[in-house]
Amino acid sequence: MIPGLLTPDTILNLLKTEAPSEVENLFKTADRVRQNHVGDEVHLRGLIEISNHCVRQCAYCGINVLNKGVTRYRMTEDEILTTAMLASKLGCGTVVLQSGEDPGITREMICTIIRQIKDRSQMAITLSLGERTEADFSAWKQAGADRYLLRFETSDPDLYHSIHPCQSASPHHRLELLKTLKSTGYETGGGIMVGIPGQTFSSIAKDITLFRELNLDMVGIGPFIAHPETALGKTAQPHICHHRDQVPATETMCLKVLALTRIICPDINIPGTTAIETINPESGRRNALQCGANVLMPNLTPVKYKRLYEIYPSKAGSLTSPQEAFDRMKNLIRSINRIPGRGKGGRKKDFD
Ligand code: 5AD
Repeated sequence: MIPGLLTPDTILNLLKTEAPSEVENLFKTADRVRQNHVGDEVHLRGLIEISNHCVRQCAYCGINVLNKGVTRYRMTEDEILTTAMLASKLGCGTVVLQSGEDPGITREMICTIIRQIKDRSQMAITLSLGERTEADFSAWKQAGADRYLLRFETSDPDLYHSIHPCQSASPHHRLELLKTLKSTGYETGGGIMVGIPGQTFSSIAKDITLFRELNLDMVGIGPFIAHPETALGKTAQPHICHHRDQVPATETMCLKVLALTRIICPDINIPGTTAIETINPESGRRNALQCGANVLMPNLTPVKYKRLYEIYPSKAGSLTSPQEAFDRMKNLIRSINRIPGRGKGGRKKDFD
């Protein structure tokens, strides 16, 4: 397999294959490509879930505005800063500020926090605050933010619209925003859920091709996990779910998508996600690291808030303290003879 040069047909066949030797070969190739292009370092990003308020109605997400059962919180600037300093003290090269789409999180508040973190640490700052305005994106970049994460979930426009009701009329707003983010100068992350009801193998093949076309610097991949208090969790959709082209929301399927992403975008950063750990608590993240992933994001959100950030049920680590979350990740890295990353761990451009 030549990295970056898989044809759409080959991608599709590899996504569909269940032949153990082909799957094993795919995983081994991805692991080799990962080692050759980004090495053995596993970068640690300290994740802080700063608010679970959200104005969106995403049909998959447990903190969407229609779920009235959620106790909402928004961390104060002081709490965010204290947690960010913990990330720095633990040795994270990056801190990630994530939230629902919360207008209560103002442009100015984030600018202040960015400046304070930059004043007091060497860490890179990643933002993941949803679909915000271009003016917000530029102000935050100017204040010192380095990266922005915004998963596009699926490139299939019909499926995208069906799971994102009441959103922008444009064919695929998040794809446009990803281009804006790139041109604003962010290292930009996208990604998808695997196994959304109605998602086909050929649409995932397109998603993977798109990661490369958009020149994304980071890609997050995780299984769709049904949340009972969401539109998708409430409505069983047997006619769609049992369609023969329906992608399963399994660990193996996610690992195949991850491996293909590594082969097609050899030098990007790919995390072993919490969602993969949630469906395989024993070895999900380890398997991801051995199929192409090179990033882990220990969740450092204070426990009293963390359990309220329930985007899907039984989220892995929701009772774990920040220190323990971090220690677990470091131990995992060492247990597979990899190296905890040093420095900010930005995208390593192959030909720089
Ligand atoms: N299952 C799996 N992943 C989910 N996300 C949100 N809800 C779910 C769910 N029910 C993912 C989306 C989102 C990211 C923050 O979490 O991909 O972009």
